[in-house]
Amino acid sequence: MSEIELLRQQLQKQEKLASLGLLSAGIAHEIKNPLNFVINFSKMSGKLLDDLTVIVENNVGRLPEDAREEINEIVMDLKDEMEQILGNGERAISIVEGILLVSRGKENEFLPTDVCHIVREYVRLSYHAMRANCQGFNVAIREQYQEGMPPMMVIPQDLSRAVLNVMNNACYAVWNKSQSAEPGYFPEISISVAASADELSISIADNGEGMNDEVKQRLFENFFTTKPIGQGTGLGMSITRDIIENKHGGKITFSSTEGKGTTFTFTIPIGERSFHQLS
Ligand SMILES: Nc1ncnc2c1ncn2[C@@H]1O[C@H](COP(=O)(O)OP(=O)(O)O)[C@@H](O)[C@H]1O
Ligand SMILES: [Mg+2]
Repeated sequence: MSEIELLRQQLQKQEKLASLGLLSAGIAHEIKNPLNFVINFSKMSGKLLDDLTVIVENNVGRLPEDAREEINEIVMDLKDEMEQILGNGERAISIVEGILLVSRGKENEFLPTDVCHIVREYVRLSYHAMRANCQGFNVAIREQYQEGMPPMMVIPQDLSRAVLNVMNNACYAVWNKSQSAEPGYFPEISISVAASADELSISIADNGEGMNDEVKQRLFENFFTTKPIGQGTGLGMSITRDIIENKHGGKITFSSTEGKGTTFTFTIPIGERSFHQLS
């Protein structure tokens, strides 16, 4: 009975997520236009400030010394601010593009994907969700993304969900440990993404509460959770295993020490699949 009830709740959640996905894709699309305005106008304003600098320089003799200095200072400040606007605008665009990338894919569709990009976005998403839910909590996130990684053939929708599941668990594990840990405990989560010629590997390591032997044995079971009611459904890891092993033909491995932390690693074969898709 309780499993049926849990399943019903999970379905309801999925339904909500699906419509939320559609909604966010729509919003992301709409937001891109005004963001492009912000970016383009801040670039143009930067150029106008350059012009202004030249005019001031060409009129050195006609401006009193202190006025000139003041103008130069203001122009410098404005340039800094323009760069801030530009930088943050570009960051916002990249978030929006991440959302579009994930929501554009059809179910089970392998697409050439900037894996580092989606991992980065979903790590942020999980981090901010946790910060919003647990006031006063923080965690140091260390990220290592292999540079210049070419697009990989994966199912972006599913891979991002797998990252989110594991990341959410890692956040919970460090948060839970911080509730009872002695002072001097600094929650930390490390993410790394790397690829070789034939393998993509993503790992997420936390220094949270870790797992005992029973949990290690059961964590992939449907409905297995150690979290209080309302906090966990016990489906995250079984969904994640399905995504990595069945859908991507990869492997999910982990190592964990009780009280010390846990590391999950996804290994996904790449070469062969890309070859099949291209031929
Ligand atoms: N990073 C982790 N650190 C400690 N325990 C973990 C971690 N990830 C998973 N677990 C354990 O595995 C269980 C199952 O995880 P999951 O399937 O995601 O379900 P849920 O998060 O809803 O409990 C968790 O309840 C927890 O006991
Ligand atoms: Mg979970």
